[in-house]
Amino acid sequence: MLQRWKAYIFPAADGGEYRWRRIKTSLVVLSFVLVSYYAVSSRQFWWSGPDCAQASLRFSGGHAPTNLSHIVFGIGGSARTWQRRRRYTELWWRPGEMRGHVWLDEEPPEGQAWPGTCPPYRVSANASRFGARAAPARMARIVAEAYWALGKEEEEWVRWLVMGDDDTVFFPENLVAVLGKYDHQEMRYVGASSESVEQDVMHSYGMAFGGGGFALSRPAAAALARVIDGCLDRYNYFYGSDQRVQSCLSELGVPLTREPGFHQVDIRGDAYGLLAAHPVAPLVSLHHLDYLKPISPRGRTQIEALRSLVDVSRFDPARTIQQCFCYESGPAYNWSVSVSWGYAVQLYPRVLAPKDLEVPLQTFRTWRSFSNGPFTFNTRPLKPDPCEQPLMFFLDRVQDSEATAATMTEYSRNESESGRRCDRPGFDAALQVEAVRVLAPRMDPAAWRRAPRRQCCRTRWTGKGRVMEVRIRYCDPGEITSPP
Ligand SMILES: *[C@@H]1O[C@H](CO)[C@@H](O)[C@H](O)[C@H]1NC(C)=O
Ligand SMILES: *[C@@H]1O[C@H](CO)[C@@H](O)[C@H](O)[C@H]1NC(C)=O
Ligand SMILES: *[C@@H]1O[C@H](CO)[C@@H](O)[C@H](O)[C@H]1NC(C)=O
Repeated sequence: MLQRWKAYIFPAADGGEYRWRRIKTSLVVLSFVLVSYYAVSSRQFWWSGPDCAQASLRFSGGHAPTNLSHIVFGIGGSARTWQRRRRYTELWWRPGEMRGHVWLDEEPPEGQAWPGTCPPYRVSANASRFGARAAPARMARIVAEAYWALGKEEEEWVRWLVMGDDDTVFFPENLVAVLGKYDHQEMRYVGASSESVEQDVMHSYGMAFGGGGFALSRPAAAALARVIDGCLDRYNYFYGSDQRVQSCLSELGVPLTREPGFHQVDIRGDAYGLLAAHPVAPLVSLHHLDYLKPISPRGRTQIEALRSLVDVSRFDPARTIQQCFCYESGPAYNWSVSVSWGYAVQLYPRVLAPKDLEVPLQTFRTWRSFSNGPFTFNTRPLKPDPCEQPLMFFLDRVQDSEATAATMTEYSRNESESGRRCDRPGFDAALQVEAVRVLAPRMDPAAWRRAPRRQCCRTRWTGKGRVMEVRIRYCDPGEITSPP
């Protein structure tokens, strides 16, 4: 290109050469000056670093961190089932501390006082005009109605609208921690898929399953509210409300941001395996608990069992069901220990690597067809051989110390295991352990803004004694947990 120019401007070969060199030098100097000026003035040219840092400063420093008061909940309910289902919402709802409504299909039966332990209710608009399946259309529209219901002041204050079913159990601090990672001024759609692959294939991998709850930033909710009715007409053939919402967000070009702490719990049987091996991410929600065995033998009913988990989570929300692994070795035994904080401890009278301990035992089947899988994560079979199964301990009590900002949780062995027999070395010794006492520093919720990392632990057992002690701590930078 330059050569063609040169030939055009300086057809003569002599004399022209000198001027050409001078012009070339000037061009180089001029472009250097221009580039430097541009780089210094915009700071975008070479250094993306400082600019990124500035953006995150604008985001975290310009606004106070997200807390519960920035969230509005919209719970989809129905007047006829609320009396029975409300127990799930009452587990986590904190009157006076949270904003939001239960959205009913009609006025609750007359003469029934609305309980103060529940969110206040509103009756959602009749959605029968959106085709034969009016119920899911009504549910999908609640997102928009919750947005329209914001007062003028709330409209400026509120950062997130969080939708859930009447049988969704939220862990509010962890919800805040997860949403706090994102810029609420952008359009965001946060949630998770189903655990059962058959469900994701049938509905969509791209949608947040509604029972696990999902969050829309205020701008996303505002945009959705503007177009929802057209979407409900276009997608009235879908089964669920969640798929209608996702179809509409897809028209807006907003994809799902996946957060593994939201749980639709599309499984049948016993959620134990899942809860004892949670991914390294904060526990945000649980759902479908009416369809599962009580999550621990500590409750005769599911609600009682859940209450134990919800109560302990108040002591150290960020750590709830976080796993850590340690090994205990003696002359006659090598054990592996897996803690799911606040829920359960597993003691294996043999050696398993962390890569195996972090895989859930399959104590459940798929949601739709009650099949043996597949799930969206790996599972380990729960073998009938008593030597293969871990000894299981469930939470009994919790204590905390303000002075040390730490908790002590104690887990006792499942009664039904006393009669178990196995002739492997180490098993009889393991049977002596009747309880596991876990000491842990209270986890900083801000830890969830950094790269996730499982914590480390150490066991202490005297070689007899009925109690084994486990101390959890932050791992050292390059520390590994390797099997003996
Ligand atoms: C939540 O954050 C706001 C600032 O956006 C602050 O004024 C308020 O006191 C905080 N609330 C709680 C409960 O921390
Ligand atoms: C909604 O409207 C339809 C048609 O007008 C009516 O048949 C139905 O009973 C209404 N549903 C409720 C819950 O009010
Ligand atoms: C425990 O593991 C160590 C190291 O691998 C091994 O030398 C020892 O024999 C094992 N003990 C038992 C009882 O399996």
